[in-house]
Amino acid sequence: MAWFLVLYLIYCTALTLALRKNGLNSRMPKQLNQLRPPVTRVLIIGATGGTGRHLVTQALDRGYEVTALVRDPARLAVEHPRLHGLKGDVLDYASVEQSVRGQDAVVSALGHKRFLGPSNILSEGTRNLVKAMEAHGVRRFICETSLGIGSSAGRMGLQYTLFVLPVILPFYFFDKTRQERLIAASRLDWVVVRPGALTDAKGRGVWRTGDVGNFVTTVKIAREDVAHFMIDQLTEDSNLGAAVGICS
Ligand SMILES: NC(=O)c1ccc[n+]([C@@H]2O[C@H](COP(=O)([O-])OP(=O)(O)OC[C@H]3O[C@@H](n4cnc5c(N)ncnc54)[C@H](OP(=O)(O)O)[C@@H]3O)[C@@H](O)[C@H]2O)c1
Repeated sequence: MAWFLVLYLIYCTALTLALRKNGLNSRMPKQLNQLRPPVTRVLIIGATGGTGRHLVTQALDRGYEVTALVRDPARLAVEHPRLHGLKGDVLDYASVEQSVRGQDAVVSALGHKRFLGPSNILSEGTRNLVKAMEAHGVRRFICETSLGIGSSAGRMGLQYTLFVLPVILPFYFFDKTRQERLIAASRLDWVVVRPGALTDAKGRGVWRTGDVGNFVTTVKIAREDVAHFMIDQLTEDSNLGAAVGICS
């Protein structure tokens, strides 16, 4: 039993170190594009999901022309004259390219529940998005990943470091590290947004960003607040080229 515990702790520590090494540092040295045209047309990925639904409503509320690339347009929560649902899949480059063409920016809250085996949905979907954006000169990319990788490794607290990540999410989080590296290697104007544990509570309209989270407790944030911060990044330049932790 004692040996098992020691081996398990070594595994948890090695995983945390690997997630740290493979994710991004909080800010990558980057040559920013000098000319940043105003954003009016926004493509939202993951628009039928928890964060994505808030992204859609908030982007519409702020006057953007919104396209949502979704697997099932009937699952979009709202109808609006400025919302265009486009049926497609991030793993299908042709549909990604079609949805990216003519946009000014892409905001992604891509996620899935296939936790238990190796998967590359986040990284391959992001690879398609980055490729299409570079091909069509769409430069601004705001992408939700998570606290717990790169410079934020360990900052989801002990429950995640010792149980959730090593037992349930190791493949999912490694895919997130690949996703972040693809974004950082791109020529895009990007912001990686790393929330703590997400809740469906009502947004508070206030949050903390930067080196948030800690090694003991799990910080949280409402999906509505994450969406608010992500939509802010469409017009905010101070976080370009950075992976920004966020919690309430
Ligand atoms: N849960 C947490 O505590 C937590 C903490 C930190 C970070 N995060 C991360 O935050 C992100 C958003 O999480 P969430 O819980 O708000 O989202 P979510 O409810 O899991 O929604 C994920 C969205 O991605 C879409 N999607 C999945 N595969 C797709 C594909 N192949 N093509 C197109 N769309 C696809 C889903 O569409 P369908 O409706 O068609 O499935 C859905 O709209 C995720 O990356 C998650 O890992 C979560």
